[in-house]
Amino acid sequence: MATELIWLGHGTWEIAAEGGRVVLDPFLDDNPVAAKTADQVEADYILISHGHYDHMADAEKIARRTGATIIGCYEICEYFRRRGIERVCPMNIGGTCQQPFGRVKMTPAWHSSTLPDGTPGGAAAGFLLFLPEGNAYFACDTALMQDMTLIGRVGLEIAVLPIGDNFTMGPEDALEAVRLLKPRRVVPVHVNTWPVIQQDVQSWAQQVQRETQTEVILLQPGQSLRLA
Ligand code: NI
Ligand code: MN
Repeated sequence: MATELIWLGHGTWEIAAEGGRVVLDPFLDDNPVAAKTADQVEADYILISHGHYDHMADAEKIARRTGATIIGCYEICEYFRRRGIERVCPMNIGGTCQQPFGRVKMTPAWHSSTLPDGTPGGAAAGFLLFLPEGNAYFACDTALMQDMTLIGRVGLEIAVLPIGDNFTMGPEDALEAVRLLKPRRVVPVHVNTWPVIQQDVQSWAQQVQRETQTEVILLQPGQSLRLA
């Protein structure tokens, strides 16, 4: 089975891989553009990039119903442990862990990470997934950073980048991120969920296609792509 990446809107993804079903940054029931409700998601693993509501709003609900293991920064896993969720896999920036669906590396992100109860969520992160058909980099919420040069050196089949601006990098910096990462394909996310992160995705795509070797994949929430 080829790994399928399904964008559920904003920063939320479902990854259907041979070794299990993964949900990244579940934000569904209060997400104005979500393609599914939290009840419709099946998961074995839940990846959480940082403690903000628009990245983990439905994590607890999904974890309780499915028994999925939560993978995230140490402080985020402790937060879920305090709430009675035992299946957690605490990590931190730069570390990797082997999971049945592939190896997970927690990458740096320039962002903040306060949890819903006001406690610190540790460092904000992105995820580099070493999947059977290729490497997928989810930048999650971040500014443009030079570290992307290093991240790109592993060879990326796909990069998922925020382009909404205001809370993360905007279109101009995301174009520069593509130049640093050099992925085969790029998907823009964290955009057009609300007016504050409204951008012209089409014209960004045209500029990336014109100025880099990377192919831009524009998805609507609910649409998916196959890895390799
Ligand atoms: Ni955030
Ligand atoms: Mn966000």
